[in-house]
Amino acid sequence: MKHLLGIEALTAADITGLLDRAEDAKQRLLNRKKSDALRGKSVVTLFYENSTRTKLSFELAARYTGADVSSLAVSTSSVNKGESLIDTGRTLDALLADIIVIRHAVSGTPLFLSGQIAASVINAGDGMHEHPTQALLDFFTMRERFGGLSGLSVAILGDVAHSRVARSNILGLVKLGASVTVAGPKTLVPKEIERLGCKVVYAAADAVKDADVIMGLRLQLERQRSALIPDAGEYNRFFGITPALLAHNTRNAVILHPGPVNRDVELDFSLVESAPSLIHGQVLNGVAVRMAVLETVAAAKREEA
Ligand code: CP
Repeated sequence: MKHLLGIEALTAADITGLLDRAEDAKQRLLNRKKSDALRGKSVVTLFYENSTRTKLSFELAARYTGADVSSLAVSTSSVNKGESLIDTGRTLDALLADIIVIRHAVSGTPLFLSGQIAASVINAGDGMHEHPTQALLDFFTMRERFGGLSGLSVAILGDVAHSRVARSNILGLVKLGASVTVAGPKTLVPKEIERLGCKVVYAAADAVKDADVIMGLRLQLERQRSALIPDAGEYNRFFGITPALLAHNTRNAVILHPGPVNRDVELDFSLVESAPSLIHGQVLNGVAVRMAVLETVAAAKREEA
């Protein structure tokens, strides 16, 4: 695994191996113990889109694994002078970057970059395509709670059409033996998503009834080219995770959300910090999972050399 470009290319064994490694990483993280797994390695974060959790947790993960970490602030970089992605990537190569963690609005950008440069590339979210480390931290959080993913029932609610988190989750959960049901307004849930192995329903109550995990998705207004929902209040009434919706659930489901949360839109304000919510735990697990990913990619690169 010289690069991590998506969940699609991983086998169930690859995913399980990463989650096992993340368990060990989490213990080190909780003890604030740094390793020297990436000592002498240079990790660069290159985010063309905004981020709080992913960017910061990759930077923390790089430090916890002993790497030198630098962050290119794209908004004040030579990208604004017209520098192309390839030239930026080759400049980072020339600066001896070993691993580039990239987020970009265009689907496929990490794959493209990985074919143009010597450094390893990790996808931190590309357009509407994949967000593999978010899915891995979601799997890790579910496994921590339930002991395994096989046989789990996961409901994913909301803006599936624009969600790279939903795609990566569906691809991985199906490989790991979970069943996935998605629900949302017809304008935001393409029927073709069923090809990934999930079931589509259009009533949120039907999706959550037998779910062990209810995952809300952020309503991605920045990716919607036209108004796809009448208004946020209406969306919340029909597809928001609310106490009224949870009353339909028969299994004391836990709540996940990748963040940032639009409170009172996709998730009731009071539920973010409620007992079933694992949202803050997901953020912590993100550091452990990204430590595991960095270690795995660095080891593959060492073997290749
Ligand atoms: N979940 C997620 O990708 O959050 P950020 O946009 O804050 O990184």
